[in-house]
Amino acid sequence: MHLRTSVTQQRPNREDDALQASHSSSRTTLFSSGLQLWLLLLFVFLAAVSAVALFSRTLYDAEGKCEELASKPQLRPPTGLEFMKGKSVLLVSHELSLSGGPLLLMELATLLSTCGVHVHWVTNQKEGSETDMVHNLESRLTTIGVQILPARGPQTVKAALDSDLIVLNTAVTGKWLEAVLKVHLMTILPKILWWIHEMRGHYFTRDFVQHLPGVAGAMIDSHATVEYWQNRTNERLGIKMPRTFVVHLGNSRDFMEAAENALSKRLLQQLVRESFGIRNEDIVFSAINSVSRGKGQDLFLKAFTQFLHLIEANHSEQLRKHNVHVLIVGSDWHVQPKFEAELRVFVEKEKITNRVHFVNKTMNVVPYLAATDVLVQNSQGRGECFGRISIEAMAFGLPVLGTAAGGTVEIVNDGSTGILHPVGKEGISVLASNMMTLFLNQNLRVTMGRNSDKRVRENFLEHHMSQKIGIVFKEILEKSKRSTYV
Ligand SMILES: *[C@@H]1O[C@H](CO)[C@@H](O)[C@H](O)[C@H]1NC(C)=O
Ligand SMILES: *[C@@H]1O[C@H](CO)[C@@H](O)[C@H](O)[C@H]1NC(C)=O
Ligand SMILES: *[C@@H]1O[C@H](CO)[C@@H](O)[C@H](O)[C@H]1NC(C)=O
Repeated sequence: MHLRTSVTQQRPNREDDALQASHSSSRTTLFSSGLQLWLLLLFVFLAAVSAVALFSRTLYDAEGKCEELASKPQLRPPTGLEFMKGKSVLLVSHELSLSGGPLLLMELATLLSTCGVHVHWVTNQKEGSETDMVHNLESRLTTIGVQILPARGPQTVKAALDSDLIVLNTAVTGKWLEAVLKVHLMTILPKILWWIHEMRGHYFTRDFVQHLPGVAGAMIDSHATVEYWQNRTNERLGIKMPRTFVVHLGNSRDFMEAAENALSKRLLQQLVRESFGIRNEDIVFSAINSVSRGKGQDLFLKAFTQFLHLIEANHSEQLRKHNVHVLIVGSDWHVQPKFEAELRVFVEKEKITNRVHFVNKTMNVVPYLAATDVLVQNSQGRGECFGRISIEAMAFGLPVLGTAAGGTVEIVNDGSTGILHPVGKEGISVLASNMMTLFLNQNLRVTMGRNSDKRVRENFLEHHMSQKIGIVFKEILEKSKRSTYV
């Protein structure tokens, strides 16, 4: 996850899950509130550091990290990918942007490059979609020694034939195989690892996944998503998944540094809270996802009003001491105009505009996590494929109120690191009552926050992820060797 914090702060799973690059907008929000100049400067600095500079730092640092690894094992824990040194890997991305999928692949490129792997990169983007962002990211990749190749053509085919391993990122890249490799398909398939971060029906089309059964393996972000893919490929297309590995995502070192920096956390908390008129002693519930019906911000706001009625009825003295607020981070009027409008109408009607604060999509979630007491992960339907924001919030010592669906169930221990509620309308009153529980019980918030932090450190760090990826790579390499020499 490193590029994510680094390049960004970004959703790992599906593209729509990704908070797009627009931190300038969140800055504007904060600027508008007339805070002390030094605080603003500090914020800009921190935002810049955590959003962008860390990425370049990571990249520039990257050279010789493996050597460093040997000499300073306590600073650079092994990543589990050292055996890849000298190998050649081709990474295929469906786009190059700061959204979740590409970012994850960029993180992998960094890890591999750090360990002396020859990394080639292909972006199978639509013609004409090259932007400054694409060029910028390509040049950053080049800086760490990654070689950028065109999407198609003899050079790319040769790289595919020569590489030890090919990683296709997201289901959508399936189209690249057919278009580019044609006659070489059968040679190439046995060394392909398909990394899948999505759980959407429209990916189950022949165009995308017809070659799935033929590849060496699939690597997927959660058990729930694997089960979904196994069911769907079988039912919809009558095809079988290849050998499939679950690899949970992990927080990068850069992100963990941000989460551990108590001073900057406190300042960011103060800054964000002041900008919305939230006091120190108030309780903030935040949802940090692209605003859309699938992420359930509408149901969250309904739960919030129920919760407000509950406290107003019996705990109004409590409410005077600790006011309650909601941050909805991830607005984008261009993408979901109707849904965005619906949320504003609801907030007006319920007279909670002074408690509910909308923030545009941003790459940099750190300031908002710093300002939050409880994360609400209210993804609906099948839930998150993984839901990286949960492990990020947990690293900030926050309890998570999440839907009992998808990857969230694999991240949140119900009753220990947060509390789960059902998806759909049935979940509203349960979420309201869970919000009540955490509002009234500071000790529980603190305990769950500590448990969350501990759980992240034991399971969801970069090195956990890279170690598992290493195990998967080993198996794929062995398998492709066998299929070559049969
Ligand atoms: C958020 O985005 C909307 C539309 O995209 C824009 O009009 C608005 O100014 C932005 N808000 C902030 C605080 O930047
Ligand atoms: C997959 O299919 C099994 C058996 O039909 C079912 O119990 C399970 O809920 C399904 N899982 C998903 C994620 O669709
Ligand atoms: C308020 O408290 C009373 C007595 O403890 C209880 O009967 C009632 O259900 C509570 N009301 C709400 C809205 O929680």
